[in-house]
Amino acid sequence: MGAEVVIEGLSKSFGKHTIWRDVTLTLPPGEVSVMLGPSGTGKSVFLKSIIGLLKPDRGKCVINGVDIVRCSERKLYEIRKLFGVLFQDGALFGSMNLYDNVAFPLREHTKKSETEIRKIVLEKLEMTGLSGAERKLPGEISGGMRKRAGLARALVLDPEIILVDEPDSGLDPVRTTYISQLFIDVNAQIDATFLIVTHNINLARTVPDNLGMLYRKELVMFGPREVLLTSEEPAVKQFLNGRMDGPIGMSEEKDSATLAAERAMFEAGHHAGGVEEITGVPPQLQPTPGLPERQGARRRKDRVMRILHTLPQAARESIIASLTPEERHRYGIPAPRPHRPDPVGAQRGSLPTEQVAQLPDSDWTRPIPANTDDVTRRLPPHQQGNS
Ligand SMILES: Nc1ncnc2c1ncn2[C@@H]1O[C@H](COP(=O)(O)OP(=O)(O)O)[C@@H](O)[C@H]1O
Ligand SMILES: [Mg+2]
Repeated sequence: MGAEVVIEGLSKSFGKHTIWRDVTLTLPPGEVSVMLGPSGTGKSVFLKSIIGLLKPDRGKCVINGVDIVRCSERKLYEIRKLFGVLFQDGALFGSMNLYDNVAFPLREHTKKSETEIRKIVLEKLEMTGLSGAERKLPGEISGGMRKRAGLARALVLDPEIILVDEPDSGLDPVRTTYISQLFIDVNAQIDATFLIVTHNINLARTVPDNLGMLYRKELVMFGPREVLLTSEEPAVKQFLNGRMDGPIGMSEEKDSATLAAERAMFEAGHHAGGVEEITGVPPQLQPTPGLPERQGARRRKDRVMRILHTLPQAARESIIASLTPEERHRYGIPAPRPHRPDPVGAQRGSLPTEQVAQLPDSDWTRPIPANTDDVTRRLPPHQQGNS
């Protein structure tokens, strides 16, 4: 099982420039978490702080009992071996073919023989759908393949924690979904803890178990995906719908005058961009059929059901609605009340005939007079008002 990452009160600034402050969250072992945030909010700085490439000013980041903010260089070196990192551009060596790129960490950090290395490299290349491309140079392959090669390389040292920076950068939506599927598949196979930072809404909606958002130098929220996806928090809603209408502005945030002026413009009918308002929680991406079930997802369900009473109403309802009948039974949630058919349903013939016979007499089936646009005239006479 992947390692747990416990972050408490973490703050980072460069000189006087605070990037984010007081970030507290736990990445549950073996679960997939996504951190959203507008560009420049310090998502990459956050990842680098978790592996100790950057040193936070305050707070803790505890992995396997070691606080990497304060530990010795030697300890940090040990802890770093738990990580696999997929940087934004794949960070491959341009002059090495994919085989040598993927073999690199094994040759650097282990004493394995070339025979052993070959076995591991070919296995990881196969896992990431790159069998047959061993001899290609990074410059000869597509962006999607480069990312997958970066992931293959991140996997060779059997990481317990995988950090991914903007996996969709430079990829079209379809390739982004393929790489998302790959993360879920890898997670199902090795049960590593994942943290993906991105501003991709589709990925955030369908991939993670947990979702967080960095904004205005703070962690706005972090929790089970249902919490953010049903949140009424203006910045979160705006971000998840990719609209101009809301507190997030062209650079970082809007002042109140800009916000008011824009509000008036959108109310007067100017399109705020984005697609139509998306609400609710779409189904989560599952491992490709034939792969094992995600242990992380199973543990998450138990964990979320334990904290269910602490979650906002909308998140709670969405979680309960996603349970299968067996899960409802397991967690002691009563079965949903049977749907009571309404009288309109009766007209569609969904009620037993004896109940249809009890409906009041009605002339709704009569043709509507051609000269009327008054809806009250469509009602049977005894239901029409006197006015
Ligand atoms: N090494 C550094 N030194 C000084 N400032 C930095 C450094 N790295 C990042 N920053 C600043 O931190 C802020 C957040 O950057 P980044 O983490 O790259 O944002 P994101 O990944 O969310 O787009 C930016 O303003 C950037 O200029
Ligand atoms: Mg970044």
